[in-house]
Amino acid sequence: MRDLTTSSVTDAVLEQMSGTPDPRLKQVMASLVRHMHDFARDVSLTPEEWLAAIGFLTKVGQTCTPARQEFILLSDVLGLSALVNLLHDKTAVEIGTESSLLGPFYQQDAPSFAMGDSIATQADGPELLLYGQVTDKAGKPLPHALVQVWQTDSKGEYDMQKYQGEQMDMRGNFRCDSEGRFHFRTVMPLGYFIPMDGPVGGLIQAQRRHGCRPAHIHFLIGADGYRELVTAIYLGDDPHIDSDTVFGVSTSLVVLPRDNDPDAPVKGMPAIRYDFRLGIASGDETGRVGADPSQILSTVE
Ligand code: BEZ
Ligand code: FE
Repeated sequence: MRDLTTSSVTDAVLEQMSGTPDPRLKQVMASLVRHMHDFARDVSLTPEEWLAAIGFLTKVGQTCTPARQEFILLSDVLGLSALVNLLHDKTAVEIGTESSLLGPFYQQDAPSFAMGDSIATQADGPELLLYGQVTDKAGKPLPHALVQVWQTDSKGEYDMQKYQGEQMDMRGNFRCDSEGRFHFRTVMPLGYFIPMDGPVGGLIQAQRRHGCRPAHIHFLIGADGYRELVTAIYLGDDPHIDSDTVFGVSTSLVVLPRDNDPDAPVKGMPAIRYDFRLGIASGDETGRVGADPSQILSTVE
């Protein structure tokens, strides 16, 4: 029998977990326990705070639905998703276009559209053309790459918020042509508040953070033999371009629509050209960090 102290309790837990057969589980849990115990000692965690944290995490879990992932949102606002993204990018054999967060609003069964169609089937707002080319890192076109796109409408709302997952809008899939080119119409996205009506929004308010994401358009791009690219392009004139609540913006992803672009395949509306470069794949690993919220829920049911 060993009498525990505020420091020896850590070793006691590590010793009891030392027989974990899975080496990765053993490593991850040992490090987690060490850091959690250090954290509790560092802030002298009180019983009230410990219970408040448990209540908070319970509420985060209860807020999750097939159309809402409050745990991913929590990870996002704490910068953990951005960090995991950066760590995962380091495992790529080749880096093309910079990645960005998948976020909680990706849906895997979005409708397919023909080149030039508009993904705004319900929403209205100022029109915008998106076009570009998908290539490898050296600029070689990737024929028939799949471009999945999703964004808010011009009021800053996702379909999943507006229709609670009952209807899709402002999202769709496009097949590039034989030269890897794509173009589609949409409406100008607006920056938006992350969902503020749940426990994560409560935390953001308690921290006096604005809770906004700058206006952006998400992309998930795939081509055989290449690492899937999850990224987003951000509108440079958004007031929150330098203070994204979820730390997704990097300089190379910032764009501005251009009026009267002579190269645009459709005229009469502002256009953004963005070319995406994919790195080659190694094995069957994916560049995707995150998932459709309904998929996550189905793994725990
Ligand atoms: C998004 O980009 O859609 C998003 C990402 C993280 C938190 C909330 C929204
Ligand atoms: Fe988004």
